Amino acid sequence: MATITFTIDGKPVSGQPGQSILKAAQAAGIYIPRLCAFKDLIPHGSCRICSVRVNGRIQAACVQTISDGMVVENDTPEILEFRKAILDMLFVEGNHYCMFCEKSGLCELQALAYRFGITAPQFPLLNPNRPIDLSHPDVYLDHNRCILCGRCVRVSQELDNKNVFQFVGRGYQKRLQVNGEALAATGLRVADRVTASCPVGALMKKRVGYAVPVGERPFDHQPISAEWHAKQEA
Ligand code: SF4
Ligand code: FES
Repeated sequence: MATITFTIDGKPVSGQPGQSILKAAQAAGIYIPRLCAFKDLIPHGSCRICSVRVNGRIQAACVQTISDGMVVENDTPEILEFRKAILDMLFVEGNHYCMFCEKSGLCELQALAYRFGITAPQFPLLNPNRPIDLSHPDVYLDHNRCILCGRCVRVSQELDNKNVFQFVGRGYQKRLQVNGEALAATGLRVADRVTASCPVGALMKKRVGYAVPVGERPFDHQPISAEWHAKQEA
């Protein structure tokens, strides 16, 4: 198969036709952050945290395919500020009390904040008051922590062959809805792949929280990185 050669921040990178910038960068050990992308899922391009500048234009690296001679800017002050602004908005739009969250130490949003040096919000906190669905015997859904990445919607459809989650509403009104009165009334099973797909602490298995002590959790030791993602996808 023909090989495509392009550059990321001036470094030559090779890939295969049809491959995304994100996948080619990943294979070359170059980190591009991501939230809505997930192994075995068709990329969706919704969170925009993977934004890079491609031949002068901002594009989402998870959906933009590579081409010969393409010039990609990834690790530049402008792109880093752009990503930080997206992260900041995700934090203030929900209720993310990392210190008390069961997902702390393995939360991809928290890990990105660590990596980008975000210590305090730059926008006003919205402090929403959203429901928590505890109806299911094995899984709960806390809408206060949902960042609307859509992973669960797509994993349930594409990998579990169910349709447990969907989005309703638009813009600020957009929210996640389950396919029934509540989680317990859906066909969700704890063994479904969707229950391990949420990047934050919104969709969680019950009775497994805080199992790993502070100081021993994955992101207590290593930052989120290309290597971390490669291990998840292996
Ligand atoms: Fe994403 Fe989790 Fe919200 Fe689903 S519940 S949209 S996976 S943040
Ligand atoms: Fe590319 Fe979300 S990871 S848009």
